[in-house]
Amino acid sequence: MGFWSGKYVAVAIGGGIAAYKSLELLRLLREEGARVVVIATAAALHFVTTLTLQALSGHVVRSDLFTPSETDGMDHIRLAQEVDLLVIAPATADLLARMAGGHGDDLLTTLLLARTGPVLLAPAMNVAMWNHPATQRNVVQLQADGITLVGPEHGLLACGDQGQGRMTEPAHILEAGRRLLAPKPWKGRAVLITAGPTQENWDPVRYLSNRSSGRMGWAVAQAALRAGAEVTLIHGPVAMPPPQGAEAIAVVSAQQMYEATLSCWESASATRPFAAAILTAAVADFRPAVQQPGKIKKSSTEPGQQSQLALSQNPDILATLAERANHMAQAGQTPPVVVGFAAETDATLDSTGSVSPLVRQKLARKGCDLLVVNNVLAPGCGFGSSTNQVTLLHRSGDTVAWPLLDKDEVGERLLDYLVHLLV
Ligand code: C5P
Repeated sequence: MGFWSGKYVAVAIGGGIAAYKSLELLRLLREEGARVVVIATAAALHFVTTLTLQALSGHVVRSDLFTPSETDGMDHIRLAQEVDLLVIAPATADLLARMAGGHGDDLLTTLLLARTGPVLLAPAMNVAMWNHPATQRNVVQLQADGITLVGPEHGLLACGDQGQGRMTEPAHILEAGRRLLAPKPWKGRAVLITAGPTQENWDPVRYLSNRSSGRMGWAVAQAALRAGAEVTLIHGPVAMPPPQGAEAIAVVSAQQMYEATLSCWESASATRPFAAAILTAAVADFRPAVQQPGKIKKSSTEPGQQSQLALSQNPDILATLAERANHMAQAGQTPPVVVGFAAETDATLDSTGSVSPLVRQKLARKGCDLLVVNNVLAPGCGFGSSTNQVTLLHRSGDTVAWPLLDKDEVGERLLDYLVHLLV
């Protein structure tokens, strides 16, 4: 069952051109199993029709405070209290002003005054309107009132201007809503995550790499952010933008990932050490021993002749961090929980359901607290897939095998498992 399944969400739509994007938000919420009620301002109905909103939400659309036929048996005060989340998307400059001023002159503003639970605003407007001191003043006031804002984003605006003012994409609004509602056991804690593949240059056009998509690391980072953690995400070349709110550091090679990871670890140790380091990256074990400055010509070998590529070993980031954590523990300090991922191509569990000796040896060799092991050749597992089936092996010998799950859920369960290991 997904996060939104059974959640009750009020989507309020303001009168801006971005109102058309809110149709997608409604669709996504319904698809995820949420119960949705739409409140449209009078201006919003100039941009999208009642019929469309009704069809997408599956409920009567509410717009007017004084039309009894719209109430669907609920008054606005009850609605304000009953919904799990109130999302206002798009929130126009005028709506921000009326909300910040505590007005209650239409259904939406009245609803907001009666609301004590979470409210998420997705502003959308022209860049000059967004930057106007009055709007910025209202934003500060709304935040002080406990309202959460997502966006607006930079980009090309409907009016043709370029700048900050675009409404955040519906999928990201959904993610922001999820973060807002999720419990926050990691609040005040920092987490270091590595993700994605590394690329090891051979010459200016060729490199050695692997099939990692970064999706597992992204899911872990999202889960940590939702749980309230501050996330530093050091990642190799991937096709996805980093999760919003993470401090993302992009690297290319294993050596760069090693240096970036150690530098983050060091600077955190001097102030507030990480609570956990979760190393999901598929780091290349080897790199070409010599990087050629120019493209290697095919003519440098005879046809049919074999050529050799000498490889050097890359440093092991996980083993290095685990060693440092173990030193901290010996010195009486509280070290971060260090977690490695092991992508295996053999069965990770034997016929009796226990972890194979090879995996136990890897945990001992790496010296980390926990290994998350998966068989990348099993159906639905491994690189690029949206699901994964993992077994957790703790240094205490504790073993937990989870069924095939969405990578998102693996991330959530992992953060939940780890928070119980923290002192
Ligand atoms: O040894 P193996 O590559 O199977 O170990 C996988 C785990 O070790 C992953 O957590 C990966 O991020 C980490 N690793 C690392 N540095 C390396 C190789 C692997 O941190 N050079």
